[in-house]
Amino acid sequence: MIPVVSDVGAVRGAVAAARADGKVVGFVPTMGALHQGHARLVEACRAESGFVVVSIFVNPTQFGPTEDYGRYPRTPEADLECCERAGADLVFSPTPETMYPRGADRSTFVEVPGLSHVLEGAVRPTHFRGVTTVVLKLFALTQPDLAFFGAKDYQQQLIIRHMVADLNLPLRVKTVPTVREPDGLAMSSRNRYLDAEQRAAAAVLHRALGRARALVQGGERDATRVQLELTRTIESENLARLDYAAVADAETLEPLTEFQDGRAAVGLLAVRFGDTRLIDNATLTG
Ligand code: PAJ
Repeated sequence: MIPVVSDVGAVRGAVAAARADGKVVGFVPTMGALHQGHARLVEACRAESGFVVVSIFVNPTQFGPTEDYGRYPRTPEADLECCERAGADLVFSPTPETMYPRGADRSTFVEVPGLSHVLEGAVRPTHFRGVTTVVLKLFALTQPDLAFFGAKDYQQQLIIRHMVADLNLPLRVKTVPTVREPDGLAMSSRNRYLDAEQRAAAAVLHRALGRARALVQGGERDATRVQLELTRTIESENLARLDYAAVADAETLEPLTEFQDGRAAVGLLAVRFGDTRLIDNATLTG
């Protein structure tokens, strides 16, 4: 069975030993309830690293007071099997007390300004601060050469890249393409909250992004029209409630009104089905 450690000394020791062997250390942070999307990250990490660390930690500081921290899915045994099958060498699974010994509310935090307060950050004002803080702590504990994130959480990987650059962290961030179900729904730990009808309806996110991309590929230069197409497609689905549909600059996430040559654009969606909130995105240009 794959080794699992939960304390700070053990993870530091295991990484130090790998490094003393001259191995490149790769890291994949997760919140567990692992699926094929997470497995792909671990496989990508395996392909480029001599020692692969996966963290499993449901991070309380990135959940808002009315969000699903308490009921976030926890599947520890299946998670370990997934990590092992995908080629991980070590799982780090700390408790909240290990990560936040002084209490989550009283600990030091790190925040990337600007980007953390648009789109997902506008709806979830303390979310990205929680993400960057825990990821920085996990980087400090695992000291990776490479860290892997999913394109599924587009804004998250962009914010992590900014944090790594701003703080001169000695590691490289890699972004892995989104893994999808056969009908196009992006895999997510939260998909299991959907009932059968909602699950069928949820394919609308990918369909909307596909239409938006087709418009742009077909020569549409007006970003407002593309945004309207995203909105209309989501609204055509009865069970879907749109949080936002955005067409944004791929680097700054600034809203676009028109497409310009040499400026990559991304479409981003957040949609609710009952109490379940799903996000997805797609590159529209190139
Ligand atoms: P979690 O939602 O568990 O996701 C862990 C990583 O898996 C993230 O980088 C996410 O983008 C990636 N991922 C999720 N679904 C994916 C899919 N369908 N295809 C490809 N990659 C996918 O994101 C978090 O946890 C947390 O915010 C974390 C970074 C661990 C900090 O707590």
